[in-house]
Amino acid sequence: MNWRNITKLSEGVHWVGVRDWNRRLFDALIPLPKGTSYNAYLVIGKNKKALIDTVNPGFEKELEEKIRKLVNPSEIDYIVMNHAEPDHAGSIPYIIGLNNKTKLVTTSKGAKMAQVFYKVPEERIITVKDQETIDLGGKTLRFIEAPMLHWPETMFTYLEEDKILFPCDFFGSHLAKGQYDDEVEDLLVHAQRYWGEIMMPFAVMAKRALEKIKDLEIKMIAPSHGPVHRNPERIRNAYNKWANGETNQKAIIVYVSMWNSTEKMIQSIADTLASEDIEIALYNLASSDIGDVAKDLVDSRAIVLGAPTVLGGTHPLAVYATYLVKALKPPLKFAAVLSSYGWGGGTIRHVQEVLGPSKMEIVGALEINGPPTENDISKIVEMGKTLAKKIKETS
Ligand code: FEO
Repeated sequence: MNWRNITKLSEGVHWVGVRDWNRRLFDALIPLPKGTSYNAYLVIGKNKKALIDTVNPGFEKELEEKIRKLVNPSEIDYIVMNHAEPDHAGSIPYIIGLNNKTKLVTTSKGAKMAQVFYKVPEERIITVKDQETIDLGGKTLRFIEAPMLHWPETMFTYLEEDKILFPCDFFGSHLAKGQYDDEVEDLLVHAQRYWGEIMMPFAVMAKRALEKIKDLEIKMIAPSHGPVHRNPERIRNAYNKWANGETNQKAIIVYVSMWNSTEKMIQSIADTLASEDIEIALYNLASSDIGDVAKDLVDSRAIVLGAPTVLGGTHPLAVYATYLVKALKPPLKFAAVLSSYGWGGGTIRHVQEVLGPSKMEIVGALEINGPPTENDISKIVEMGKTLAKKIKETS
């Protein structure tokens, strides 16, 4: 397949996005092992034409080239800016500069951002309210405010006649490959990772948005990253589960160890949990992809953190992990902390301070000097059994 092609999703509705096979980091934070795509869509009505979102800076000409295969850019009446982040809005100045008539359509918060970030003149901006529509001639765009998914100005666009939802980042996945959901076997794994990295901190707002679109007939979901869902039920069901914080009988174990003492403690609790039929996802932070950790935070009911004390404090990799757990707001219910130190402790206290304000119950904490003794291992086994019991008894 020629990836520079455009794809017709429906009569008069075309994917004109681009694929970024080489990008490996997003927001200087999120690893992108499979690249990503920046999806833009051209909707051609009988009277007017609209471009829904644009692409990351650097791909402007590819976007223009694709638009030109369908229409002259001077014929575009509207650019719909669902979201102001540069991976979707960064090419607005280029596209809007191709003629004098295109108007930017966005929320009132989006209008301010378009002026600040992209210097779009006020007279070229149309501000829309929740549920307002624009008629393109047999193609009606309905705008649905969806604040904090994941920026304050965000909205979804729904194409009424074709029943296509364009929700920008929501329902997305960071994948360069795959035009449609059924072409990617492990799509839900990637979607879960994306949810964990980007949407999970805003689960409350996500729940509200899902409620808002609950009765909307949706034949296709066309997000701004990754494949288009032409079987939308699967991703809608997954989002309902994740937004509701539904967890499995599962524990995520994240640890770092310098001289194997903490690692031995972790192995002991991991074996105990596994023998109690708890699903485990185990990550050594020294060699793990933080996106994978985010994915398993989405549906784990408990977390085990393991870290040595070094230089008078918690190992920096564990500090980073603890901070991420706090920031990503996963639906974890229980935690256990294990630590070994050489000549001065403090890790347990630090982790408890950071995680204390969360709703997690700290089921057990053990800090030891040097390698674990048989007595320490017995304590860890008991801690593992208690944790497993809590996980099983809670939904
Ligand atoms: Fe894909 Fe929030 O931008």
